[in-house]
Amino acid sequence: MMNSQTFASPSNNAPKSAKRTVAIAGATGLVGREILRGLLADDSVVAIHALGRRPLSVRHPKLISQVVDFTALPALPPVDEVYLALGTTIKVAGSQVAFRAVDFDASLAVARAAGAR
Ligand SMILES: NC(=O)c1ccc[n+]([C@@H]2O[C@H](COP(=O)([O-])OP(=O)(O)OC[C@H]3O[C@@H](n4cnc5c(N)ncnc54)[C@H](OP(=O)(O)O)[C@@H]3O)[C@@H](O)[C@H]2O)c1
Repeated sequence: MMNSQTFASPSNNAPKSAKRTVAIAGATGLVGREILRGLLADDSVVAIHALGRRPLSVRHPKLISQVVDFTALPALPPVDEVYLALGTTIKVAGSQVAFRAVDFDASLAVARAAGAR
């Protein structure tokens, strides 16, 4: 499992020839957009499941964009890697609880939906 802090080396553990299917949450954000750009350019990544509360403006044959409710996520197909780039601030969220719902609960929900142990 990876998060935005480990983006600098997204394929460290994968052999160069391995084909990877990945999921990303938060691809509309500053960090998520850059992760998505890297994944789209990476030929070893064959499918990208992007989860967000609104559609992506990017279109690409290997990109599957899903608008989701992070409190009631659908099951995800099996993926090799998950990139978590969700985030907000207490000021934007309006409260500690609302902040935690995005920065912690939603990220954990994605990890669980992807089958993380
Ligand atoms: N920016 C940096 O320099 C930096 C550096 C280190 C770590 N980080 C961390 O990386 C993460 C992302 O940061 P960022 O700068 O990319 O933030 P950002 O540009 O504000 O993007 C946040 C992402 O989270 C989504 N999001 C926010 N509130 C949501 C909600 N209530 N429900 C569902 N989705 C929600 C946003 O979706 P919408 O587009 O729909 O709003 C967007 O995809 C954060 O945890 C941050 O702390 C950032």
